[in-house]
Amino acid sequence: MSAVAPSSGGHAAAPSPATASASGPLSGAVQVPGDKSVSHRALIFGALAIGETRITGLLEGEDVLNTAKACAALGARVQRLGAGEWRVEGVGIGGLRAPAEPLDFGNSGTGARLMMGMVAGSPIEATFDGDASLRRRPMRRILDPLEKMGVAVEEAAEGGRLPIRLKGPRDLIPLTYESPVASAQIKSAVLLAGLGAPGETTLIEKEASRDHTERMLTHFGAQVRVEPYGEHGRKVTLKGRPELKPAPIAVPADPSSAAFPLVAALIVPGSDITITGVMTNPLRTGLFKTLKEMGASIELVGERVEGGESVADLRVRHSNLTGVDVPAERAPSMIDEYPILAVAASFARGTTRMRGLSELRVKESDRLAAVAAGLAQAGVVLSIEGDDLIVEGAGQVPGGGTVATHMDHRIAMSFLVMGLASGKPMKIDDISFVATSFPAFVPLMTHLGATIEVAA
Ligand code: S3P
Repeated sequence: MSAVAPSSGGHAAAPSPATASASGPLSGAVQVPGDKSVSHRALIFGALAIGETRITGLLEGEDVLNTAKACAALGARVQRLGAGEWRVEGVGIGGLRAPAEPLDFGNSGTGARLMMGMVAGSPIEATFDGDASLRRRPMRRILDPLEKMGVAVEEAAEGGRLPIRLKGPRDLIPLTYESPVASAQIKSAVLLAGLGAPGETTLIEKEASRDHTERMLTHFGAQVRVEPYGEHGRKVTLKGRPELKPAPIAVPADPSSAAFPLVAALIVPGSDITITGVMTNPLRTGLFKTLKEMGASIELVGERVEGGESVADLRVRHSNLTGVDVPAERAPSMIDEYPILAVAASFARGTTRMRGLSELRVKESDRLAAVAAGLAQAGVVLSIEGDDLIVEGAGQVPGGGTVATHMDHRIAMSFLVMGLASGKPMKIDDISFVATSFPAFVPLMTHLGATIEVAA
């Protein structure tokens, strides 16, 4: 049993290139790690409840470990009991203590943004920081609603970026806020702050984003009302100052991580694999829907509910894919999957148009630019029109060269997957950031039969 020291996190590894080459048929059954969104929230809600929350299947990637350290630095007792098994002893809403050091979220926008909302409910000061990628990402979208609720931004880098020092007020003001972007991170920050305010806090989003925060609030005993808003949106209302009761959490496998072996099996001829226990929450499965429209053989086997989320085993077989038009309103349900969808589209026949991707420019990297550069490097014909990415699939990809990953785990994994079926191998400049979300990516892919070599 080990306690998590309240020290700062961060990414220490030196750049480590890796190369993927044409592989024989992929086969076998694998389990991908726990969902990243649910893992962050399990720790955060555990820390805000009074008493002991047990978590199983927690993703032990760097992003989530940084959230665990930050929860410990704020006074929660966070212990690792075994692989994926954690215990959190929470201090209650308003019971957080001021951390001695800046909270370091490494590469994680989710950790930093959700915990800004979490801290708002306690009358303490805390400094939020992260790596070079996170320091470039916009935080005004979180500071704006929090300031309206009475949080003081004591310090911030230019453009409202990290490092940021926040001070929670004695009395937080409840808020009704219409989010300018369909973002679960904005929604979650506002709702987490709303826990500390008297009365009702309401968040309106024009497109529904992932709903793990709402589900977990209910799971921990808070009163949450979710109503439809417009054609695709939602209005979420939380009754403030509940007493959160500890509740066990079983984290399901991450559909955003499953996406990599899944697309690998679709593009490597002869493949037939199964990915077990993958979360199939409809607000996360836009990729599966899109790939099926493209002709992918993805079978959901043994659909069931585990820990309050729907899960299924995914049987995936090599498929001849056809280009499709992906509507902008689908973006929130597959926002992290566009890089790997672009890879699938490259192996498809015909044009795939992915619409409305402006949010991709502010992820761990400018993913629109990084994907476009990687595809061009591999000899794929593409264009960007406004916020749309258009890939001209030719049924095969020439490959070759080195792709710049820009501290972005999903760019790294996407182009390694491409290399498993391209004419020439695909090299990436740095695989080390894969540890943020999918530490066992290489052994898992190798187990399925993929050829991936990491430079020593
Ligand atoms: C996440 C929300 C998404 C997603 C991120 C995880 C979450 O970000 O890209 O990887 O756990 O709330 P946005 O809400 O900013 O789109």
